[in-house]
Amino acid sequence: MCYIIEIRTLKKIKCNSYSVEVGNLELSSFPVLLQESYRDVRKVIVVDENTHDFCLEYLLTAFPTLEDAEVILLPTGEENKVMEVCFQVLEALSDYEIVRSDLVITLGGGVVSDMGGFIASIYKRGLPCIHIPTSLMGMVDAAIGGKTGIDLGSFKNQIGTFYNPVAVYVDQRFLETLPEEEWKSGFAEVLKHALIADRKEWDRLISSSQGELFSEENVKMILEKSIAVKANIVNEDPIEKGKRKSLNFGHTIGHAIEGYYLDLNPMSHGNCIALGIIAEAFLSNQKGTLETEELNEIVQVMMALYPCPEDLLTGVSIMLELMKNDKKNDQLGVRTCFLNKIGECSWNHLIDENDIKAAFNYLYQCYYKN
Ligand SMILES: NC(=O)c1ccc[n+]([C@@H]2O[C@H](COP(=O)([O-])OP(=O)(O)OC[C@H]3O[C@@H](n4cnc5c(N)ncnc54)[C@H](O)[C@@H]3O)[C@@H](O)[C@H]2O)c1
Ligand SMILES: [Zn+2]
Repeated sequence: MCYIIEIRTLKKIKCNSYSVEVGNLELSSFPVLLQESYRDVRKVIVVDENTHDFCLEYLLTAFPTLEDAEVILLPTGEENKVMEVCFQVLEALSDYEIVRSDLVITLGGGVVSDMGGFIASIYKRGLPCIHIPTSLMGMVDAAIGGKTGIDLGSFKNQIGTFYNPVAVYVDQRFLETLPEEEWKSGFAEVLKHALIADRKEWDRLISSSQGELFSEENVKMILEKSIAVKANIVNEDPIEKGKRKSLNFGHTIGHAIEGYYLDLNPMSHGNCIALGIIAEAFLSNQKGTLETEELNEIVQVMMALYPCPEDLLTGVSIMLELMKNDKKNDQLGVRTCFLNKIGECSWNHLIDENDIKAAFNYLYQCYYKN
């Protein structure tokens, strides 16, 4: 997927106390912020190996005041979103004598914004942080909403903080170098946002050809609409007392799949969430909230884009254990979201072991019934 790219307009979306600005970085408030609020402080830019190679040069060239910044290079990949790596970064910040008024800038996908944001939130009790997401997943989801986190063994995002950045800058030109698999991964969250809150956008997304969908103008529209869904929900419920839980649709089962395969044969976050969406849409149907016709529509869309591992069923008992330790649970058991219909979601539904096993069986049957 490839498109080119000279977008002159800028859109600001309010999210909690800060803005998400969608458009060219040069036209955004980023240079003003650097010049006026952070001119005399030291800057730390957090990247991973790919964003170091593909994105950093552009940033340093476009904003020469960043040339003196310390660059922290994280090892790429979800398996490195762990405490051991955080410790090394914290030590580096200390060696660089970074102080509390200095600025952290994350430049990368969700792993970089989750881990960079987490580190910014705990080092010296919190440094100001700006996110510049470079993956579709980061742009529509991970960098939006102020959740930071790292994994603990197979348990996803088990350690983390709510920590609002100073601002988020979404410049779609970074997507130019994003591999196709990563586009697909981020697109799963785009579909999820439409499924939980925007029926019209779902219809638009599934009726467009790939060529139409990933044209320059359309990517901008996808970004704006998807970010707006997340920002609206986060504005209503910043610390996940209620409605924000709907963003976890597909994630109860999806996170268990992701955690289980992390050590075996890692799959992208989005691929796992797409499988979780099928499974949780099935449960929504079983529990009587989602019409069968809409379930079938969702399954068809997800199956066309995302594969399912052939050995899925061999891991069910381990995935069940992972689910029991999910952050979204309470004393009563595993909690999940249901779709009421495409475009509307409800949350806090209790499901039991039989429900989960049935959902895994259904998911497997969708792909391998013959
Ligand atoms: N905090 C939240 O609310 C939230 C929400 C959704 C996802 N997440 C987290 O985000 C992570 C997934 O995000 P992700 O898919 O962006 O993962 P990622 O950061 O690992 O990025 C995916 C891959 O794309 C590469 N990449 C990123 N930008 C690139 C670019 N412009 N050009 C070339 N390569 C590029 C990365 O190096 C990596 O190899 C997961 O850890 C997930 O738990 C967090
Ligand atoms: Zn997700």
